[in-house]
Amino acid sequence: MTKQIQIAIDGPAAAGKSTIAKKTAELLGYTYVDTGAMYRAITYKAIQLNIDLQDGEKLTSLLKETTIELKPSPKGQLVFLDNQEVTDEIRSLKVTASVSQVAAHAHLREEMVLRQLEMGKDGKIVMDGRDIGTHVLTNAELKIFMSASVEERAKRRYLENQKRGIDSVLKELAEEIALRDKMDSERDASPLIQAEDAVFIDTTELTIEQVSEKIMQLAKERMQII
Ligand code: CDP
Ligand code: CDP
Repeated sequence: MTKQIQIAIDGPAAAGKSTIAKKTAELLGYTYVDTGAMYRAITYKAIQLNIDLQDGEKLTSLLKETTIELKPSPKGQLVFLDNQEVTDEIRSLKVTASVSQVAAHAHLREEMVLRQLEMGKDGKIVMDGRDIGTHVLTNAELKIFMSASVEERAKRRYLENQKRGIDSVLKELAEEIALRDKMDSERDASPLIQAEDAVFIDTTELTIEQVSEKIMQLAKERMQII
C-alpha cells in the first residue's frame, strides 16, 4: 500500500505552479486546490461591492460571509463565489492588479488558511499558492518551491493571453509580475518565502513535462510503500 501524502507547491506568479499542481493531482488521483483562486475570488467580490481594499477588517468580515468553492471539471477547475461561477472573471486585469493588496491583510489570511486546512485534512491533496509550505500544509510530505526568471514568466503569461485571445504587452506583464512578486515577498503576513524543507525547482529552462517528471519522482519517493 502506498502512503497518502500532502503536496505543497509555492512560488511567484507564472512559475508554472497551477499547471504542474493540476497535472500532479490528475496523475495521482488527488484533489487540486488553487489557493490563488480563493484570494482572487474575494478580491473580485470586494471590487464589485466597492469596498476599500485597504480595510482589512471589512474584507475579513466580507470573507466570513462568503462561500468560495473550487470544483473540478473536464474544462479545468471551476471557481464559485456565493454559488455563482466566476472562473474567468477572477482572472481579469483589475483583479490581478488588486489581489496582492487584499492578500496582505493578516486576519483575512487567517480565515483563508482555516478553509484551506479543512480542504487538506484528509491528505491526497496538491495545493498551490504562496504560503502553503510555510503556513498551511506545514507538515506536507513534499514541499516544492518553484520559480523562473521574470522574463520567462512574463513570456509565459503573454503566450497564455494570446491563446485566450487577449492582447497584452510583454513589458507591462513583466512589470506587473515584478510588482506582485515584491508585494507578496515583502508583506508582513506570511510572505512568499521558500520553506526550509522545500525542494527548489528553477523552471526557466524546463518544459512542463520535465517539471512534472521531477515532481512525480519526488512524490513517489515520499509515498514509499507502507
Ligand atoms: O496565477 P498567479 O500566479 O498569477 O497568481 P495566483 O496564484 O492566482 O495568486 C494571486 C495572488 O493571490 C498572489 O499574487 C498573492 O498576492 C495571493 N496569494 C497569496 O497571498 N497566498 C496564496 N496562498 C495564494 C495567492
Ligand atoms: O500557477 P502559476 O501562476 O505559477 O503558473 P501557471 O499558470 O501554471 O503557468 C503559466 C503559463 O506558463 C502556462 O500557460 C503554462 O502552460 C506555462 N508553463 C510553461 O510554459 N513551462 C513550464 N515549465 C510551466 C508553465
